[in-house]
Amino acid sequence: MVAGQKPACIAGWGTNSAVKILASRRFPGPAWDELRDVEYYEGSLTAPRPDVDALAVVGEVIDARTLELFPNLRLVANYGVGYDDIDVASCAARGVAVTNTPGVLNAATADLALALILATRRRVVESDSFVRTGRWGTDWASTTLLAQEVSGATLGIVGLGRIGKAVARRARGFEMRLLYTKRERLPADEEHELGLDYRDLDDLLREADIVTVHVPLAAETELLLDARRLGLLHDGACLVNTARGALIDEPALVAELAAGRIRAGLDVFTDEPNVPPELLELPNVVLTPHLGSATQETREAMTRVLVDNLQAAEAGRPLPNPVYAS
Ligand code: 8YV
Repeated sequence: MVAGQKPACIAGWGTNSAVKILASRRFPGPAWDELRDVEYYEGSLTAPRPDVDALAVVGEVIDARTLELFPNLRLVANYGVGYDDIDVASCAARGVAVTNTPGVLNAATADLALALILATRRRVVESDSFVRTGRWGTDWASTTLLAQEVSGATLGIVGLGRIGKAVARRARGFEMRLLYTKRERLPADEEHELGLDYRDLDDLLREADIVTVHVPLAAETELLLDARRLGLLHDGACLVNTARGALIDEPALVAELAAGRIRAGLDVFTDEPNVPPELLELPNVVLTPHLGSATQETREAMTRVLVDNLQAAEAGRPLPNPVYAS
């Protein structure tokens, strides 16, 4: 398949015989039960499975070696919008289509980004621990937990796809000033409608009080925020990441946080579920375990999209959400 090409149906399917799906788990919600022939696997895939037509996965690495085990595989259906764990180029080389679940998780992920912006900027988690550990006195003029305003702050949005735009719409409700950066600048009327000013990445990092990251992880975005770029953030700035850990140089980020120069709200990490141990003791970082899409409604909607793709393949219809190597 060539990038940008509209997907063909999966040749040979559509005869209405059930395709054999191997899934890494049962996905949540009623849509999953519509599938006819599903087998589950646990752990890593090691034995050859010539009987399998399609894989349904989330977070599992599907690389060239894994594909060797599936000589008759035609589809890898990914539960999630980000598909950086799947070697899409190797899939394409073997005629294996890849699909994802975009769209349905924009609101949940944008909501979590806002939650981390608010929690980080207003020191919500530190304050919670302050109360729980009995340190709350009655000095109303205390400066102990003084924070910085969200209203009126400048928010820099790195990546303005569907999730970035959902963040922009929410941030306007907080009367924030909005900057964005994106590979291709938006048309002026769309910038205007969303209340956004374009900056290149370095200028955005210098200017923003809060930076939130919403780009996919790919070869060209890995370590996008390297040590030099993290150094452009001004003292006291907040960095929020609900996209992928590997977009940021994690050791450099840890060093900035340990120095107390910036604050961060992090939902994603380079080597999940491992979190750099230095972060666990720091008061200036809020940590969540990759929860961007973790609402019941969104997770069920993702299953619906996953199943729609599998069913379209089975019926010989065009895939609704094909992805291609960049
Ligand atoms: C998780 C996500 O992959 O869609 C994505 O790219 O990061 C998330 O939705 C998914 O929720 C499984 O944890």
